[in-house]
Amino acid sequence: MDETKTAPQTVGCASDSVAEFVQILRMANVNGAGRLFGGHLIGWMDEVAAVSARRYAKCPVTTACIEQLRFLKPAYQNETMVVTGRVVYTGRTSMEVLVTAEVEELSGERRLIADARFILVALDEEEHPRAVFPLVPQTEQEKQWYAEAQHRRELQKH
Ligand SMILES: CC(C)(COP(=O)(O)OP(=O)(O)OC[C@H]1O[C@@H](n2cnc3c(N)ncnc32)[C@H](O)[C@@H]1OP(=O)(O)O)[C@@H](O)C(=O)NCCC(=O)NCCS
Repeated sequence: MDETKTAPQTVGCASDSVAEFVQILRMANVNGAGRLFGGHLIGWMDEVAAVSARRYAKCPVTTACIEQLRFLKPAYQNETMVVTGRVVYTGRTSMEVLVTAEVEELSGERRLIADARFILVALDEEEHPRAVFPLVPQTEQEKQWYAEAQHRRELQKH
């Protein structure tokens, strides 16, 4: 018998949490100067963060906080927007989801236009915080994101 199929889950994996949203920017998404509204982008980023956290925790989640939201470059009507989220750190009941928003050129090249760190909390049936599996970063990039998040959490305690 393959025991890996029956072993209970004890840790979480960042790659299982990746979520992506793709949108061609329409007239309704941009202002009079043809630039993307920041509020629309935050809404998409929040949804991507929620799906990422749900995939990780496999239960309902809620957004507790948005940290380090940066609008780095404008995006314009008819451009292709790609919003990506992944869990990069876990506390006891909270997950930090790194969300990036990129414009994809027709060549396939992407430029980063915004990013943020969303803190989401896993909820039980009574909507109380519930524990999540601790994240075990695998790749060098995941280890770096994890260490950065851990460092910020330590600083916030003081
Ligand atoms: C998020 C919420 C469930 C936290 O409930 P709570 O009773 O404060 O729970 P706790 O104090 O036990 O905190 C639970 C976890 O959330 C984290 N947390 C709570 N508020 C936070 C904040 N403002 N920023 C970052 N983390 C936060 C805590 O650090 C803790 O993490 P840990 O378990 O990994 O250590 C509650 O504040 C809530 O429901 N807020 C409204 C969320 C909502 O409606 N969001 C949608 C947008 S309006």
